[in-house]
Amino acid sequence: MSALVVIGAQWGDEGKGKVVDLYSEYADIVVRCSGGANAGHTLVHEGTTLITHLIPSGVMHPGTVCVLGDAMVIDPWMLVDEIKNCQTHGLLASNDDLLISRRAHVVMPYHKTLEAFREKKASAIGTTLRGIGPAYEAKVARRGVRMGDLINKDRLRDLITQNMEEFTGTDHALDSVESMTQEAYAIGKQLEAYYTDTGLFIYESLQSNRRVLFEGAQGTMLDVDHGTYPYVTSSSTISGGACIGGGVGPTAIDAVIGIAKAYTTRVGHGPFPTRLDIAEEENMRALGNEFGATTGRPRECGWLDMVALRYAVRINGMTGLALTKLDVLGGLDDLKICTAYDIGDRRIQSPPDTLDDFSMAQPCYESFDGWTEDIQNVRSRADLPKNAQAYVKAIETMLDIPLTLLSVGPQRQESIEIFRPFGLQG
Ligand code: GDP
Ligand code: IMO
Ligand code: MG
Repeated sequence: MSALVVIGAQWGDEGKGKVVDLYSEYADIVVRCSGGANAGHTLVHEGTTLITHLIPSGVMHPGTVCVLGDAMVIDPWMLVDEIKNCQTHGLLASNDDLLISRRAHVVMPYHKTLEAFREKKASAIGTTLRGIGPAYEAKVARRGVRMGDLINKDRLRDLITQNMEEFTGTDHALDSVESMTQEAYAIGKQLEAYYTDTGLFIYESLQSNRRVLFEGAQGTMLDVDHGTYPYVTSSSTISGGACIGGGVGPTAIDAVIGIAKAYTTRVGHGPFPTRLDIAEEENMRALGNEFGATTGRPRECGWLDMVALRYAVRINGMTGLALTKLDVLGGLDDLKICTAYDIGDRRIQSPPDTLDDFSMAQPCYESFDGWTEDIQNVRSRADLPKNAQAYVKAIETMLDIPLTLLSVGPQRQESIEIFRPFGLQG
């Protein structure tokens, strides 16, 4: 087995960074497939905490090649800063450690200007203000600037001129075409050494049985087609997005591991059926330190939503589940799992396909007894408190897929590995 997709199975921030960092030990190549600097992935190992926004979460493993794939939208100024930050930690020492697709799109300064303007309106989505939506709009409208265009000054100038015309008649403060061209060209030149045909590199790597981990960003319920539209991001965050972003066909993928917290969080606007009341939410936010890694916003918190999670299993073709932040639930008397939604007099087991229905959904809960023991140092499933074992067993049974990993703390080693990735034997 050499191609593994790891995706978020909820509304983002499931602990993808931690799990991908752990799994990167077994991977030769880690590919970020979609999204941009809206992501914030936290890696904690041996006293170092690194938050990556664009660079794949395999970066802490020297020798693992990090790839920025075709379907990403990259803010090149942020990327240069992020590379420098990694280098101060002794990472990405060689140009061969990082490969950037020329096909990936560029988040331009005017994308952020446009988004900031829109997000002040009543129709705001609650975005991360990283220019993601406008950059994907430009891509689909076929006037986007791609990473490869940054180093072709004439083409770049033409594209910027064409895009800036969209702003005529608005009063946004925008740099002149020429100075923007010069600045974008200069930043592109700083990244040129990393440019590669990443799809070809991944294909050839798979042909020679190198292990490739495709890392999703955001989460299933934020997918532009399958999430809680319009309160979603603008990319394909589900496992299918790994093929698009990696430039590989679906038959290349051997396994799909979804990551979910043992409860649920969300940032930004939009429906969230299992959200707790204010006092309980504050408590869970404090227990789980639930503040955004990108924006610092307090995350909304709620019980585990099995309706959304079963949907994630279906839509991603998940073959396994990595359950994170189980330690956070320690000390709570009574735990709940939402097993169905009530919408009026209808009871449904699968997420509604309209925003109106989703906004009305009321959770139906099954209750579980909590545990008081600190489980951060537990390293085997059998050593978990009985009630914790019953809680995770219930999740496994309800989803009908195996648990591959239980995460009991933010550090790499605070993990109970049930199955190793890539079918490797422990
Ligand atoms: P991502 O976007 O999915 O990579 O997740 P984030 O990094 O945005 O948010 C997850 C947060 O939970 C980070 O602060 C992690 O360090 C932390 N974390 C990950 N796994 C665990 C865990 O099992 N227990 C605890 N207590 N924290 C965890
Ligand atoms: P990671 O990879 C959680 C949310 C935003 C907003 C919506 C649209 O760390 O899990 P955008 O800026 O993408 O246009 O915002 O999506 N969002 C995330 N929520 N984790 C993320 O990334 C997110 N990336 C975007 O809060 O609701
Ligand atoms: Mg995050």
